[in-house]
Amino acid sequence: MATLAESAPDYTTLPEMAQDVFTAPLARPAHVGDDWLEPQQTDYSSEDHAVWDDLFARQLEILPGRAASAFMAGLEKLDLGRGGVPEFGQLSEELGALTGWSVVPVPMLIPDHVFFWHLANRRFPAGNFIRTRETFDYIQEPDVFHDVFGHVPMLTDPVFADYMQEYGRAGWKAMRYNRLKALGALYWYTVEFGLILEGGKDLRAYGAGILSGPTEARFAVEAQSPNRIMLNVDRVMRTDYVISDLQPTYFVIESFADLYRQTVERDFDRLYRSLQAGFTYANSAVIDVDDVLHRGTQEYHLRGGRGSGAAPV
Ligand SMILES: [Fe+2]
Repeated sequence: MATLAESAPDYTTLPEMAQDVFTAPLARPAHVGDDWLEPQQTDYSSEDHAVWDDLFARQLEILPGRAASAFMAGLEKLDLGRGGVPEFGQLSEELGALTGWSVVPVPMLIPDHVFFWHLANRRFPAGNFIRTRETFDYIQEPDVFHDVFGHVPMLTDPVFADYMQEYGRAGWKAMRYNRLKALGALYWYTVEFGLILEGGKDLRAYGAGILSGPTEARFAVEAQSPNRIMLNVDRVMRTDYVISDLQPTYFVIESFADLYRQTVERDFDRLYRSLQAGFTYANSAVIDVDDVLHRGTQEYHLRGGRGSGAAPV
């Protein structure tokens, strides 16, 4: 096994986690190994496939004009609407031919160092299970619809595909400095909840957390409540975020090339040395260095957010 002390990590082997690095305490199910990979994808029932089809149809009503062009093109290239939960083997073959990525089944959320290792090797770990009718609108644990519908189309974009691999590699460094929380904020505000200003004028969503649900695509792109601020990696990595509700702030990129540059060309050693262990900025804050596209009213959150009956306006 590679150790994190090495200056040039070997991304082909699973990194060993130092004892003092904090990660979520996840209990590994007995049937998966150190790589956390399921031996095979779930044998979905006809009801599971019907849930996928209904979720797919609902998102397709909402996403045109709100989702990034790269995402819509990816859905088409991979023909994700052909009916039923996609079979990962076939999906990986098609995705592999485009950008060299594959999709691999995992039982649940997996530990950070294992997640980074798969990304660094262009493997996207996707939840095996699918939600039920009871949790149709919202689930916190990522299922196969969130992971495959939400994330995989973006992996057909060559620049975004490279960004995801670099993100996995950056995880090694974050672990060495015990700054996984900061790198997690970058993932949250880009891969999960990122917006892009296409052609310098059309605001669109590319984050999987936005694109895989019915409410946030409208809220993120059109509502008056949230702030929309141009992405600055240093600032984002100091910013807290909300896990169980719509975001009070979204960060916007100019292009995927801009995102790649800001991340890969950033000197993360210097950044990690200057970061505090916790977050500096509240998730609704607008600060003096921000390039603000829209200053939100925060009405939705001020009225109580999820569960309060507040409209996502
Ligand atoms: Fe996700």
